[in-house]
Amino acid sequence: MVAAADAVARLNVAIDWDPAARVFELRNDALTYIVRVHRNGALGGVYLGPPLAVGRSRAQLLGGEFGGFDNRLGAPVALEYPTSRSGDYRVPAIEVEHADGSTTLDLAYTGHRIVAGKPPITGLPSTYVEDAAEAETLEVDLRDAVSGLEVTVAYSVFRDVAAIARSARIRNGGTSAVRITTAMSASLDMPDADWDFVHLSGMWGRERQVVRRRLAPGRQAIASRRGASSHEHNPFVLLQRRTTTEDHGEAIGFSLVYSGNFLAEAEVDARDSIRVRLGINPEEFAWRLEPGEAFATPEAVLVYSAAGLGGVSDAYHTLYRERLARGPWRDKARPVVLNNWEGTYFAFDEPKLLAMASAAREVGVELFVLDDGWFGQRDDDTSSLGDWTVDKRKLPHGIDGLARAIEKLGLRFGLWIEPEMVSPRSRLFEQHPDWAIGVPGRKQTESRNQLVLDMSRPEIVDHLFGVLSEVLAGGPISYVKWDMNRYITEPFSRSLPAERQGEFFHRYILGVYDLYARLTSAFPDILFESCAGGGGRFDPGMLAFAPQTWTSDDTDAMERLSIQYGTSIVYPLSSIVAHVSAVPNHQVGRITSLDTRAAVAFFGVFGYELDPTTFSAEDRAAVAEQVVFYKRWRELFQRGRFVRLRSPFEGDGNETAWMVVSADARQAIVGWYQVLNRVVPRLNRLRLRGLDPALDYRLTLWPARSDGLEAANAGTRGGDELMAAGLILEAQRDDAAGRGDFIARLFVLEAT
Ligand code: DGJ
Repeated sequence: MVAAADAVARLNVAIDWDPAARVFELRNDALTYIVRVHRNGALGGVYLGPPLAVGRSRAQLLGGEFGGFDNRLGAPVALEYPTSRSGDYRVPAIEVEHADGSTTLDLAYTGHRIVAGKPPITGLPSTYVEDAAEAETLEVDLRDAVSGLEVTVAYSVFRDVAAIARSARIRNGGTSAVRITTAMSASLDMPDADWDFVHLSGMWGRERQVVRRRLAPGRQAIASRRGASSHEHNPFVLLQRRTTTEDHGEAIGFSLVYSGNFLAEAEVDARDSIRVRLGINPEEFAWRLEPGEAFATPEAVLVYSAAGLGGVSDAYHTLYRERLARGPWRDKARPVVLNNWEGTYFAFDEPKLLAMASAAREVGVELFVLDDGWFGQRDDDTSSLGDWTVDKRKLPHGIDGLARAIEKLGLRFGLWIEPEMVSPRSRLFEQHPDWAIGVPGRKQTESRNQLVLDMSRPEIVDHLFGVLSEVLAGGPISYVKWDMNRYITEPFSRSLPAERQGEFFHRYILGVYDLYARLTSAFPDILFESCAGGGGRFDPGMLAFAPQTWTSDDTDAMERLSIQYGTSIVYPLSSIVAHVSAVPNHQVGRITSLDTRAAVAFFGVFGYELDPTTFSAEDRAAVAEQVVFYKRWRELFQRGRFVRLRSPFEGDGNETAWMVVSADARQAIVGWYQVLNRVVPRLNRLRLRGLDPALDYRLTLWPARSDGLEAANAGTRGGDELMAAGLILEAQRDDAAGRGDFIARLFVLEAT
């Protein structure tokens, strides 16, 4: 795993235990994290921040009310896995109901282990290491003496990334069942509330918009209760100082490796201390634990950066691209795709698809994806989900025949599936009406005319594995787009007893993970892309199985600027799928140039989503040139360091700029975008970042055009000058092409 170009070359990872002070110190070169065992045995939080020199005084940190522990009644003491109902009135990390109905819990230290590497979390996706030297893990055991409940709080500190992964394992060491009603993945207390609370929120077609607000006394939270991480809120929050920018100042990220209902919350108490907790949403959760049984929480990944928000993104991008994504596609160049969805919707047949594939081949596309509509009798969205057999009316030679014909054309073939769903109009529903989620005797709410299969039931997961394995083994299929187009209503599983219905949502997502794990290991060479009505489940849990995600159903280039910008706060470009679609755009009706659409979609995993048989000769030539350009720079676009330069969420939102830089800083591509033009633009300099100040760069523009922008910027420039003075953008008004709206221009920098 390579650290970002301008990050510290090699981080030193270590976890120390001071038995006299009962203090753990976790560190790498980018951060120090200190926790302690208090006098009463509770696990206390001491510090997360910039690296502290080893062996020096910690008296300031361990002293004071916040660091000490005498009587926590109302005191702002810092705890790492807080319980409730014995004097701490802030939000807890864990709550349980004992057999007698009481809910008090006191967790005290009983022991710990420090191990090399990072153990996996059984049944759940998590970050990993390939070599034990890449991380060190601390596991602290806590126990409630009265009930025998045991909690192991785990911390893994990475050598090469400014990140700490946390999770907890709860075991019933007592003699009667307990009901867990809250089980957070991480909870962190800090001694001041002088932070902004930043999250990625939106809706279908407008995912992951950056929202920033001041922390205030009380609780502020984002959450999902929809059965998926959701379009509305991403399982991620960030704390940043008011003065923090992209490249300066403190920021702490909290990201949950989970695809179901989540909660991310910050509570500011009366003394201005702050508690952040992250995990499964307790509102839709309860888990019965019999004696001897254990429950594992999902993993939370905390990132600390003293070098701005960009530092947080660098850490997540590296970790999620290289040690969360897995399988042969993790490191491979992703193919340029043509997806037929916006080109045909449900109205296609084999000749039409082959004509599209052949036109796509001509312009250099590498893989053809057949989207929704190939199975059952699915001529619209009212039927057939669950019937994963080919519709011979449309595809008389089956998927195999089509895939082979497409391979003959020189393209690989990909297929869309939506495994978790069933249409009430389907053979599957006729045979197994009880497989759809719903409460017997109540109506089942349909959304997009479909119901959700009860993925908490192993026999349904087995069935899906069987039928989908047959589909995937039935032809040369190189790629799968796994969609999920509605949220869950009437949550209930017929296979769970009344006292276990609180487990439904979590068991659902465990079933999804199980199916993903089985299919990805049975078909290791298939590239999986996750999707949920666009980006409704764009989360780290999914990335552990599918290294890329369809970012949004809104394919308009201007709308995509904010969607992709927000997504990039956490997720690497290798996960952000972006396609050029037709104009007028199908979602917003906007007409943007082909160049502009490509210039936005290049920054991610690139492709097309239109009917290429309708291209004019001019379009065909332009698209062929785009594909050549993307392939030339694909490695940089998919794996380069992404640097945000100008935010569509700041000012009037009229401009966006970002860049990708190679690990050795010898190559970079800057994207600059302007929504509306102005009659006399302001002077406008775009200062670059992440270049090598000592290098000279040859600067060319894409698309090539002799215009004012090119005249002002093309040629050889020093990295120092490009970072200190910047690109000269006001020059774009000097030509006719630069005078319209929705302008995009790329600047390609190559060290000479
Ligand atoms: C929603 C996805 O986001 C689209 O790309 C497309 O696959 C449709 N579903 C098909 O129903």
